[in-house]
Amino acid sequence: MRLNVPFLDERELEEIAKVLATGYLTQGPKTAEFERLVAAYIGSRYAFAMSSCTTALHLALVVLDVGPGDEVLVPDFTFPATANVVVQQGAVPVLVDIDLDTFTINLDDLRRKITPRTRAILPVHTFGCSADMDPIMALAAEHGIPVIEDAACAIGTTYRGRFCGNIGTLGCFSFHPRKVITTGEGGMITTNDPRLAERIQLLRSHGGVRTGFWFEYEAAGYNYRLSDVQGAIGIAQMAKLPILLERKRLLAAQLRARLSDISGIQSPVEPAWGGHIYQSFVILVAEDLDRDRMIRDLRALEIETTLGTYALHDQPFFQREYDYIAGQLPVSHAAFKRTITLPLYPQMSEADLDLIADGLRRVVAAQRG
Ligand SMILES: Cc1ncc(COP(=O)(O)O)c(C=O)c1O
Repeated sequence: MRLNVPFLDERELEEIAKVLATGYLTQGPKTAEFERLVAAYIGSRYAFAMSSCTTALHLALVVLDVGPGDEVLVPDFTFPATANVVVQQGAVPVLVDIDLDTFTINLDDLRRKITPRTRAILPVHTFGCSADMDPIMALAAEHGIPVIEDAACAIGTTYRGRFCGNIGTLGCFSFHPRKVITTGEGGMITTNDPRLAERIQLLRSHGGVRTGFWFEYEAAGYNYRLSDVQGAIGIAQMAKLPILLERKRLLAAQLRARLSDISGIQSPVEPAWGGHIYQSFVILVAEDLDRDRMIRDLRALEIETTLGTYALHDQPFFQREYDYIAGQLPVSHAAFKRTITLPLYPQMSEADLDLIADGLRRVVAAQRG
């Protein structure tokens, strides 16, 4: 059983065929339609399709003028891209510990790590579970700094009734194939701020402004565009999004029920403030269990799993560059060592869920006797 399989059918093929027939493959009308669909769905004024969530996060920092001498607060337990983009801007990613129930940023550690050099807060909606945004937004307002939501895993996640990615100053989404909807590679940056929107549009495509037949280059921009072939896939995927989300929630509930009697395993927690879309269904295993052995043993049973995500302070780059030592952010370190992502995608059947539960029961028993 694979960890994830994107939900693709003839609808994507039909949309792609329309693009191929035009002969115009780069950013164009399909990308624009995909942007309108995402903006309408999350309720943002603007949405700009990007080549990935990583480039979306990078451009977010660029348009907020984050640069050398600045600090950006980033949760430690995340995919490295969240912090790498800060480094690429010459700023310092200040790593913040997390909560072990939701795997999202810990508010006490966040408050402790604000300094006069803090230029932005970059919370992550980890695995599709919303971070606790109200206190984060209040803290940011108190210090007059913007919030960039890393909503890579969170299209469709809500926080107290509002869509994630439309709460902070800017929101960044991913359409990598491990996400709920995919364009192969791809991302989106959303905002309600017209000034930021104008700069995103300019810098996404080389810094050029069209003047009649030509462009004038106003800035040293990037090529962070999404192609129209990918935009076409995005349109077909957006049409399926509500069904995919519903199906994932149902499967998550069914899997949770099957895992409830296996000791040493904690299913994902749904926070009081709202939603979890289960982009990834990530379990926490007890300290006495050897997580890596469990992943190997599950693989032997033909069930593909992987770790949850990374503790950045445990990675060689962050240790070398910023003198972190392993375990310095203890909760994130524990999550890095003790999480397993289980398969969960809409095409799965209840029989697949039985296989996962039986497999887990066996690999736990193998260690505990
Ligand atoms: C939290 C988080 N942020 C950013 C990214 C980067 O996304 P992309 O692969 O679209 O660049 C990922 C990808 O997995 C992610 O999980």
